[in-house]
Amino acid sequence: MERIRLYNELAYLWPVISPVEDYAEEAVHWLRAIEDKLGPGSHRLLEMGVGGGHNLSHMTGFHKAEAVDISPQMLELSGRLNPDVIHHLGDMRTVRVGRQFDAVLIHDAISYMLTHDDLQAAFETARFHLRHGGLLLVAPDLVAESFSEGMVTRWETSRGQVSVVTEERLHDPDPSDTQIESWFTYEITENGKRRVERDVHVTGLFPLGAWTGLMDEAGFEVDAFPLPGQDGFGEWLLSGVLR
Ligand SMILES: C[S@@+](CC[C@H](N)C(=O)[O-])C[C@H]1O[C@@H](n2cnc3c(N)ncnc32)[C@H](O)[C@@H]1O
Repeated sequence: MERIRLYNELAYLWPVISPVEDYAEEAVHWLRAIEDKLGPGSHRLLEMGVGGGHNLSHMTGFHKAEAVDISPQMLELSGRLNPDVIHHLGDMRTVRVGRQFDAVLIHDAISYMLTHDDLQAAFETARFHLRHGGLLLVAPDLVAESFSEGMVTRWETSRGQVSVVTEERLHDPDPSDTQIESWFTYEITENGKRRVERDVHVTGLFPLGAWTGLMDEAGFEVDAFPLPGQDGFGEWLLSGVLR
């Protein structure tokens, strides 16, 4: 992974830029998919690429969870929000936490898988941690069908003494590969002082058929649930039950 400033020295901005409350509506769909595929009751979850733990925080009231992330700063944020969750530092392509789970969740962190090999490795990690009949849930931020060159999203959020105007502009420098770039500008007002920070996130872009095909090859029975995404983002929740 490129060094992404938002998950390193700017990680403290995550709860401002992407408020935990904004995940509540989508989490209902995740909880419904878990119940649909695994039945009612409490299940053991492993989230990979947990970030600030915003998505997971809406599930810990119902399920017992562990979590993985490659960024110590993001693990610290998630640990504060989700004190009952066991956190592990690791890469979703290679990590082995030494336990099996009923479900493995990978939310928008799956966007940082840049190639088919990366996706295969992440799905293999999921398979390794699942019991027979276990569930993989994956939510790509963007599928190729929804991408257009130069797409821009701009939003303003604040929390305490910090407010941020975030702009994300998508760019595909080489349409023949499976990667795009998100150029981020964060206009930050902190204790009355203004500054601008920039960041580039390199992420993977694959058509829906590649997602479902690779999950199927990894041994999962695949379903795709539409999500109430916005502006082309977050439109699909992909579920795979381990055969
Ligand atoms: C957009 S954030 C996830 C936010 C999360 N959905 C939430 O609810 O707060 C993406 C996360 O993926 C993590 N990440 C990126 N590549 C990773 C990898 N190879 N293995 C594990 N985590 C990774 C980043 O460190 C970052 O915390």
